[in-house]
Amino acid sequence: MRLAFGDRTIFENLSCRFARARITVLMGGSGTGKSTALRMIAGLQRPDSGKVRVAGDDIVGLRESGLQRVRRRLGMLFQDGALLDSMTVLENVGLPLREHTRLGDAEIRDAVHERLAAVGLHDVDSLLPGELSGGMLRRVALARAIIMDPEIVLCDEPFSGLDPPNVERIEALFQELCHDRGLTLIVTSHHMASSLRMSDQIVLLQHGRAVSGAPGQLATRGDPEIKDFLGADGAALARQVASGSAS
Ligand SMILES: Nc1ncnc2c1ncn2[C@@H]1O[C@H](COP(=O)(O)OP(=O)(O)OP(=O)(O)O)[C@@H](O)[C@H]1O
Ligand SMILES: [Mg+2]
Repeated sequence: MRLAFGDRTIFENLSCRFARARITVLMGGSGTGKSTALRMIAGLQRPDSGKVRVAGDDIVGLRESGLQRVRRRLGMLFQDGALLDSMTVLENVGLPLREHTRLGDAEIRDAVHERLAAVGLHDVDSLLPGELSGGMLRRVALARAIIMDPEIVLCDEPFSGLDPPNVERIEALFQELCHDRGLTLIVTSHHMASSLRMSDQIVLLQHGRAVSGAPGQLATRGDPEIKDFLGADGAALARQVASGSAS
């Protein structure tokens, strides 16, 4: 698949796969196209050539109505796709159900509570986003991303700005969602330690291409791009992951 913005080539012959019911972390330096890759999976950005398959179907030729059907199967947690400030947590998380289903208030409330419990939140219905901490905001946004029971959840930089306990909490949530609900998670992150720790697969974007591997494999592969990207600390971490001693 190929994509350029003007004379700037973002993806040149990019080819990668994301395993079903697994966590894949998309890594790469700033501007390598991580957010763009997520936008392509959501059908918000078309490639200049090539295919983008979501759950087996090529979405590149789809019209808006077809894309909307695909998007129903996706949950999205975009960095700036924040919650609506004037709506309570209950209203924010329930919004997709209100817009896309005919469920009544009581059913919506039950569904919202179930998703909030899944992200470890209780008794927050009437709070406004401004009354929540950064970690709670991220978890509420995650609850909203899974409210429609998506098969795939796209998360752009879900760890940015969070302190280590909150990073670990979100990591654990991702693993629960993946293992308990069978969700396919595609996450972009700059956070090397957590990416290596929580993912089943890393896709590293560099110079318009992708290199993939299990986190524990990355340290042992000879690719100079991977070595470059991991650096000495990352390589040490990857070796720890490989030996099962990463904390
Ligand atoms: N709609 C657009 N029009 C023109 N250029 C764009 C557009 N969207 C992204 N780009 C460019 O594509 C490149 C990749 O952007 P993208 O946001 O995907 O990078 P990223 O890997 O997510 O970076 P970061 O780590 O900083 O979030 C950048 O050079 C960006 O300026
Ligand atoms: Mg980005």
